[in-house]
Amino acid sequence: MSDTIEQAATCLRRGELILLATETVYGLGADAGNPDAVAAIFEAKGRPRFNPLISHVSDAAAAEEIGVFGPQARALAEAFWPGPLTLVTPLRDAERVCDLARAGLDSVAIRVPGHAKARAVLAAFGGPVVAPSANRSGRPSPTTFADAVEETGFAVGAAIDGGPCIVGLESTVVSVLGGQVSLLRPGSVTRAEIEAVVGPLADSGEGHRSPGRLTLHYAPDAPVRIEADQARDGEILLGFGAGVGDARWSLSPTGDLREAAANLFRLLREADRTHPAGIAVSPIPAEGLGEAINDRLRRAAGHVG
Ligand code: TXA
Ligand code: MG
Repeated sequence: MSDTIEQAATCLRRGELILLATETVYGLGADAGNPDAVAAIFEAKGRPRFNPLISHVSDAAAAEEIGVFGPQARALAEAFWPGPLTLVTPLRDAERVCDLARAGLDSVAIRVPGHAKARAVLAAFGGPVVAPSANRSGRPSPTTFADAVEETGFAVGAAIDGGPCIVGLESTVVSVLGGQVSLLRPGSVTRAEIEAVVGPLADSGEGHRSPGRLTLHYAPDAPVRIEADQARDGEILLGFGAGVGDARWSLSPTGDLREAAANLFRLLREADRTHPAGIAVSPIPAEGLGEAINDRLRRAAGHVG
């Protein structure tokens, strides 16, 4: 059962963790300025401490209190907030986003979520809330309340049910450091949508990668095989497009990338629960949202990087 916005804000003030519904995936939240609370997130997730967290705030004005915004960051914030975009900017306030939350970096990742309940919690709390996806480290992100409770519900003092996540993939992470805009993690705001606002993106070379991008991620227990035309013995096929595999396991029967993104993590989890020999996934087109979907699938299949 869902707790109230006020209960969630009270837990955050006490240094407790919460489950936070957002439009992308469910998050495991804590007061970004409280090192003990932030440490509890790393512990509950089993997350390596070199991987920094995203600070969530209720609006762009609150974002500018913790990060330094140049013209490019402002243009992106105006175009996509509230919504599934995270901006990595120079740090302004090292107290409200503690060292551990940033993994010691002098930059900060900031997002204003699109989900009304998430923003209500953030406004009621009145400060930045770090919230990684609520899965245990390395597992698929939870996109339903039940999946979030199953993953890390044991660690929280309050849980906000916001229904199924309509986006279903984590936010796009864009760095605006050093006057250069680069894509650190593909997500539901596409490369083309970002380039329409700030022009061509800089190449995000190895040195500019998100620290968290270097580890295996999003993996169910069953082995994942991508670019599959059909299921092999004992496999479940997650199809894409009309007439591909069993309709019950289709990412999108109409070949719609938004629908496939919204279904991806839920179907990976549901397939995994039947203990198949493996999970095969149809080829997904590379353009638009397909970049982010294929990124998550390659990682789930163990093709890291
Ligand atoms: O949609 C989302 O972004 C979800 C919801 C809950 O908001 N959160 C999420 O958080 O996906 P997490 O912790 O799973 O992913 C955060 C990503 C990681 O790849 C991390 O390395 C990167 O953001 N990141 C955070 N701070 C950074 C920084 N200062 N510089 C570069 N990358 C950073
Ligand atoms: Mg995650």
